Parts: sequence; C-alpha cells; structure tokens
Amino acid sequence: MLPDFPLTTEAILARKAEYLIPCVYHFYKDPPVLVSGAMQYLRDSRDRTYLDFFSGVSVAACGHCNPRIVEETIEQLGTLQHLSSIYLTWPVVALAERLAGILPGNLSKSFFCCSGSEANEGAFLLARLHTGRPGIVALTRGLHGRTHLGMSATGLPMWRTDPFPDPSAQVVPGPYDEAAGRVTEEACERSLRAIEEAFSSGTIACCIVEPVQGNGGIVPLPSRYLQQLRSLCTDYGVLMIDDEVQTGFGRTGRMFGIEHAEVVPDIITMAKALGNGVPVAAFATTPEIAASFTRPSASTLGGNPVSCVTALAVLKYIESEHLPERAAALGARLLAGLSALAQQHPGIADVRGIGLMAGVELRTADGSPDAARTDAVLEWCKDRGLLLGKNGLYRNVVAFQPPLVITEEDIACCLQVFDGALRATS
Ligand SMILES: Cc1ncc(COP(=O)(O)O)c(C=O)c1O
Repeated sequence: MLPDFPLTTEAILARKAEYLIPCVYHFYKDPPVLVSGAMQYLRDSRDRTYLDFFSGVSVAACGHCNPRIVEETIEQLGTLQHLSSIYLTWPVVALAERLAGILPGNLSKSFFCCSGSEANEGAFLLARLHTGRPGIVALTRGLHGRTHLGMSATGLPMWRTDPFPDPSAQVVPGPYDEAAGRVTEEACERSLRAIEEAFSSGTIACCIVEPVQGNGGIVPLPSRYLQQLRSLCTDYGVLMIDDEVQTGFGRTGRMFGIEHAEVVPDIITMAKALGNGVPVAAFATTPEIAASFTRPSASTLGGNPVSCVTALAVLKYIESEHLPERAAALGARLLAGLSALAQQHPGIADVRGIGLMAGVELRTADGSPDAARTDAVLEWCKDRGLLLGKNGLYRNVVAFQPPLVITEEDIACCLQVFDGALRATS
C-alpha cells in the first residue's frame, strides 16, 4: 500500500505537524523517511541503505522483517487473528509454557498484554494485591512507562510528563553517581540505604529496577548491588520487579539481564524484543504470588494468537541462532572498540554496557553533558548510513543497541563511522 502523498521528509513532517499530537517527537534535523527493513538494514524512500544500530529502540533483536518470523506471523494472520482471552486458543498457553521454561527461578505464571508500560502497570497491581500495601520504590534514571504508575515510577524528568505523579511511587537515588559521572560504590551504598529507609515505612509493595538502565544512559547496575537489593526485598517482604523490557531476550548476552547477577526477582516484565516489532508484552511471577490475583482481569488484545505465535517464532529463532551468546561475543568486540576510541577522543567521558547494549557518554572539556555534540554525531552518522540511538539524563549518551544478528564486519563499519563523526564534531 502507498499513500496519496509523496514519500518525502517534507510531506511526512507537514502531516505529522498537522495530525499528530506534538509530544510525538523524532530523531534528526533532517530525518529520512524509512520505508523498509531487512535484518540489520533499513532503506529510505530515496533508496539509501542504513545499518541500524538502534533496532527501533531495542526491539528488532532478530532483525527487521526477519523472514522466518514473518512467515509464521502471516500464516497465523490468515488462520485466526483475534478472539480475546474469554475463548480458548492454543498460542497463548504455548507461549506461557515456553516462557516458564526460560524465565529465571520459578517464574512460571504469565499475563499477556501489549506494551512495556502495560506490563509494568500490571506488575504493580499484582504486587499491591499480594502484599496488601500501596507503595512503589523506583530509582533515579529508571524508566518504566507512560501509564500513570509507570510514569510516576520513572526517574528521568524528561519522561515524567504528568504534573500529578502518583504519591505512592517514590523515586530514590540509584547507583549512578551524578557528581562522579558513573556508577560508584558510594552511590550504590547511598541508594541501598535510601531503599531500606523507604522499605522500613512498612507501606511498600514493590521495588522496580532495570538491570541495565536503558533510557537512563545505558547504566548497568552492579551485580553486588542487585544481590543486596534482592536481600533487602526479601527481608522486608517487598516484591522485587525486574523490568526486562529493554534488556530481555538476549540483548545483554544472557536471556535476561538479571541473570548476570544470579538474582531471581519476584516479578519480571517483558515487551519490546519478545515480538520483534509485533506488540506483545507480559509480566510473569511465581505460582505463590500469582495466587493473589484471582479477580477477573482481561486485556482485549493481550495474548492474541498472532502476537503469541510471533513471540514463539522469536524465541525459536533466538535459541536456534544462539543470539544471547552472539550478543556476548559481539558486544565484547563493540565495547573494546568503543573503549579504544575513548583513548583518542577526550570528549568521551565514559564507555559502558554489557552485551549488545552499549553507551558512550559525551561531555565537553569542562565536564558538562554534551547533548549538542551527541545530536551532531547522530546526524553525521545517519548521513553516512549508520543509525545510532541516544539517551541519558541529559541526552548526551550515544546508544548502540543493534539487532543481535549483526556481524563482526558491521561492528567494524559502525566503529569506523562513529570515529569519523567524533573527528568531524570535535
Ligand atoms: C525499561 C523500560 N520499561 C518500560 C518501557 C515502556 O515500554 P512501552 O514503550 O512498550 O510501553 C520502556 C520503553 O522504552 C523501557 O525501556
């Protein structure tokens, strides 16, 4: 299908300004109109090809329009598209069974919905039902969604749009030390003390964390910190919610980011890569905690046959292609390359990440966050056929989150272009 207007940047921008709510923002001063995708590549309306190192914000882990996944999706689309959970269908139970086999610990009961925000909102409800308490503790630099509680638990001012956040959600300092510009042991200690103080009120139902704070600037939380947080949650009867919306399904080099710390959360939330672009999300928990959620709940589109079959195909592909192992090996290469560039470019204040989830923090000579250069680097790379991401508290972190199907050559190409961008913008 083609629209009745030209596929030019100007035509799309004009209609976007007229018909979309202005909160829908986009990357780039001169954005291309992307019209098709094939694995790690995207194509624009002027027939230029891009190597994608952002995966549509960490979604297309198996590659854009992966033919093996698309084939199964199309077959299901032509067989049975929708019924809702009030009828019995097989894909939803098959997917739940499959997830139970790969999730950490005894997280064997799932509820399906359509987005990461919805999964987190459901996890908060479950925690409240199970504990009989209202409170939610979250970390600075964390992001958990656009719904009321998800946004209230988000610790990034840019994404806390609601002027009336829910008072039951409390954002406490996380392990990233704002003064030092990195994670420090002191900041971890401070964070754990603040969490314990919040827990000791006796009103907290859950504490939500991302194993690697994605939007917060690719900040991996240290294993020891996550282990201590797990102990605190256990001691105070607070449920630990592991938000794997961005880190799940192989990106960090393990199926789930929390596995690096050998921590088993009480609830895990998933979205993004689970559908590789088809909307599917879930939260999962133990049978004991799930038993607290017996009153009827339904998501009209959650668990629909098409998204569940797609997710099953995604999981099959991730396993058969050993994508977590691939992410670990290629990610080590990418991080080594970025660290080498940091030796040559003083504007690089920090290189961090795990697996194929890496961030490069740019600062000016006086140590201020360099958001303007971050934008210039992204624009320069885009004009040379490389799409990178950006995030962080000050939008000064260049994000590398490619499809996990990239090759060593793609990494070499990315590093070369990124080096060129740093030289051109210094
Ligand atoms: C860690 C994390 N949690 C939750 C969300 C919200 O997910 P969604 O946009 O699918 O609602 C995001 C989105 O970027 C995220 O990165």
